[in-house]
Amino acid sequence: MKLMIDEGQIQVIRRLYDVFPAEGVTTNPSILAKTGRPPYEVLKEIRAFIGKEAQLHVQVTGESREEMLEESRRIRRELGENTFIKVPVNREGMAAIRLMKQDKALVTGTAVYTRMQAYLAAQAGADYVAPYVNRIDNLGADGIQTVKDIHALFRNNGLSTQVLAASFKNSQQVQELCLCGIGAATVSADVMERLLKNDAVDMAVSVFRKDFEGLCGQGKTMKDCG
Ligand code: E4P
Repeated sequence: MKLMIDEGQIQVIRRLYDVFPAEGVTTNPSILAKTGRPPYEVLKEIRAFIGKEAQLHVQVTGESREEMLEESRRIRRELGENTFIKVPVNREGMAAIRLMKQDKALVTGTAVYTRMQAYLAAQAGADYVAPYVNRIDNLGADGIQTVKDIHALFRNNGLSTQVLAASFKNSQQVQELCLCGIGAATVSADVMERLLKNDAVDMAVSVFRKDFEGLCGQGKTMKDCG
């Protein structure tokens, strides 16, 4: 499972990349809005930092298939061919996915709440589909189970489309999907930090340090003891 960062602030992306094995960045219009800056300025900064080979997912906002196709061309021109175009899986979005695939774009079907949306987007040629775990839960359905079903649905139908699970509220959800071997998960900074944070680990490390200092002296480490 690839781990991606669902974020638009470059300083947050830098901080996370420094520690976590992130393999790309995903954004959506709301994430870009939070930066308060011109979208292409923000996205070019992210592209420059992650490099031209890394995955960057950028969403279109037009309502018609023609508008979405035009947006996808501008996005690829500005940010490189290895930029995945996120397209909402609705009526116009479905038509846009087919047009973009004919245009040789990489496509992520997004705003996926149901297994059928995922199936249809995959059949239309989407490279990824992004089901929204937490938002599905908030509708009274089971987000994790929906993602597992989509993953199985793709394998059982010989579809090469990958799942890019999104909208997580905690690290347990990410862990559960990692066990299933889904294609990718994109997580917020907060959830990413929680994948690693553990008070028991901090306490164990602190006891080891104290014990060692008791033996060799305050501030001593393996590089400067006898
Ligand atoms: C990704 O494709 C989605 O835009 C994003 O993960 C939604 O997350 P949220 O439900 O936390 O806003």
